[in-house]
Amino acid sequence: MKYDEVYRESLENPVGFWGRAAEEIAWDRKWDRVLDFSNPPFCKWFPGGMLNTCFNAVDVHVLQGRGGQTALIYDSPVTDTVATFSYADLKARASKVAGFLKGIGVGKGDTVIIYMPMIPEAVISMLACARLGAIHSVVFGGFAPPELAIRIEDARPKAILSASCGIEVKRIIPYKPLLDEAIEISSHKPETCVILQRPQVTAELIPGRDLDWAEQEAGAQPAECVSVGANDPLYILYTSGTTGRPKGVVRDNGGHAVALKWSMKHIYDIGPGDVYWAASDVGWVVGHSYIVYAPLFMGATTIVYEGKPVGTPDPGAFWRVISQHGVKALFTAPTAIRAIKREDPSGRYLKGYDISRFETLFLAGERLDPDTYYWATELLQRPVIDHWWQTETAWTIAGNFRGLEEFPIKAGSATKPMPGYNLTVVDSASAEELGPNMNGVLVVKLPLPPANLPTLWNDDKRFVESYMNPFPGYYLTGDGGFIDEEGYVWVMGRVDDVINVAGHRLSTGGMEEVLARHPDVAECAVVGAHDNLKGQVPVGFVVLKAGVTKPQEEVISEVVRMVRSEIGPIASFKQAVVVAGLPKTRSGKVLRGTMRKIADGEEYSIPSTIDDPTVLDAIGEAVKKIGYGKK
Ligand code: COA
Ligand code: AMP
Repeated sequence: MKYDEVYRESLENPVGFWGRAAEEIAWDRKWDRVLDFSNPPFCKWFPGGMLNTCFNAVDVHVLQGRGGQTALIYDSPVTDTVATFSYADLKARASKVAGFLKGIGVGKGDTVIIYMPMIPEAVISMLACARLGAIHSVVFGGFAPPELAIRIEDARPKAILSASCGIEVKRIIPYKPLLDEAIEISSHKPETCVILQRPQVTAELIPGRDLDWAEQEAGAQPAECVSVGANDPLYILYTSGTTGRPKGVVRDNGGHAVALKWSMKHIYDIGPGDVYWAASDVGWVVGHSYIVYAPLFMGATTIVYEGKPVGTPDPGAFWRVISQHGVKALFTAPTAIRAIKREDPSGRYLKGYDISRFETLFLAGERLDPDTYYWATELLQRPVIDHWWQTETAWTIAGNFRGLEEFPIKAGSATKPMPGYNLTVVDSASAEELGPNMNGVLVVKLPLPPANLPTLWNDDKRFVESYMNPFPGYYLTGDGGFIDEEGYVWVMGRVDDVINVAGHRLSTGGMEEVLARHPDVAECAVVGAHDNLKGQVPVGFVVLKAGVTKPQEEVISEVVRMVRSEIGPIASFKQAVVVAGLPKTRSGKVLRGTMRKIADGEEYSIPSTIDDPTVLDAIGEAVKKIGYGKK
């Protein structure tokens, strides 16, 4: 089938289109309606339908006689381990873990936080929660205790599942002290923590609260799948907004299964038995959708990789995994490819690996810059496909198709809108729809397709205010860009205070809140500056209070330490400068856009609303001292 036809049908007849896609999923009870959009901007897909996500990811394949097929390969260069799990193994493990969760009182509708490194038990934990109809919330291991505490406080988990440590290349990170500190800070206390002891570190367990994972799993009765409503939440995933308070993106069960399974076939061209590898982390949406759920819904083999693109042990790591496990498609972030390119520009580490079964490289998480696109295409001699999406959407908004019609690639463009996404560009001031090639804000005309967030956790108001009110009738993606005359989508960057650092989404507002807590800081701003490896890195600008005599370098190293210990190492906040003042409008709004241009050495015009233009030169001088401000 051709794209135009599919796309048109998805918009003109969403009920027919998604109703057909939903036939691919095993339902306990068929839906009453495909779409209920009677209460805009909220939309409900498949209301009345009952299903279980773990059943669709695991049990169904065992029932269909493919229990012996490999479901998951754990490849961990940092522990020198490769282990495989069949669908039958995964079913047995998820049933036992669900069994012990049930034993500690977790049931349908309860929340469970998962704070784990990239080990099979992270995936098993998610499946076990889904099995019981419990709502998981995975927190990425690179976040510091205060960030974990914010999530505990908001999700109010009955239990937390964690491990004794994570391993960052050669550095072992004990998780338990971080978890204990987070629980200490949070006003909500989980009843139980179940800790998986890894051989590298033995965590101390707190009697009465902490349980040993191995003992629990060994003693558990396997639990069966619990049927849940299509609109019941499967998970909450916190993501950065424009303030320090993250947004709890909710994912429902029904639409999620339908859209993700559709995407696997049509975007990634993956079928049962194919080996598919998303080199990300279960803490991010890419991990939720494409390490765990979508490949398993499809009956494919997924890879859980506990390593990095470089340093574990060398820049050939990805090619080794592809060759060793017969990977058909790899999905990662452009920053990972840039990291490989930096250490192995000629691609000599690829030589010697047989990647003949490898067909496509998919990239997302940040814009795929043309240099990286050309380098990877030249090296791999395979299609390199950029696709654009967000935590909120769970799957691609715009991309190319390996299993439908494949379009010629235009380097720097994410290609075409996906079915179900009525994507358009509006002018930020007038809200009018713009024509081809005109830059504006990328918005999706409602209703959003299945799997997109139905709301924010316990916060319908923030959901409506953040995404729906800015342009009534449309969902605000938060990204700017344009659509060209051939319908190709060009995503040029966020229009808000969210930045993307090594494919990780972070809030500059959140970092500013940390900097502002330093006793010597009068005011501050954080902007995302261009970085050749990570795409963007945060750079802080601080104005000291009058009378501060402490050396500037000391204040800077203190604020750098504060961001690391309050947000986490993943913020990559390493650069800050002291400036005499921040550029502001006469009404007091900090001109962050202008500061970002100065940090990137780009041309800028002096905003007519600026209060004191002389601060701009001083900012230019300050950023040069730390190596920015040059083109
Ligand atoms: N637990 C604890 N710390 C973590 C962590 C985790 N799970 N993940 C990262 N960190 C730490 C890192 O060790 C690093 O610490 P440092 O400041 O002491 O060096 C810091 O957080 C920043 O991490 P990162 O941004 O990953 O930088 P890096 O220099 O270690 O690696 C890349 C750079 C490009 C190799 C790496 O970012 C990468 O592999 N990216 C792949 C992209 C990806 O997975 N994107 C997800 C969305 S698809
Ligand atoms: P996250 O929610 O962490 O997945 O981050 C989503 C944000 O990452 C988007 O809003 C974009 O700013 C950016 N992003 C993701 N994929 C792409 C892409 N292919 N091209 C451009 N930006 C992207």
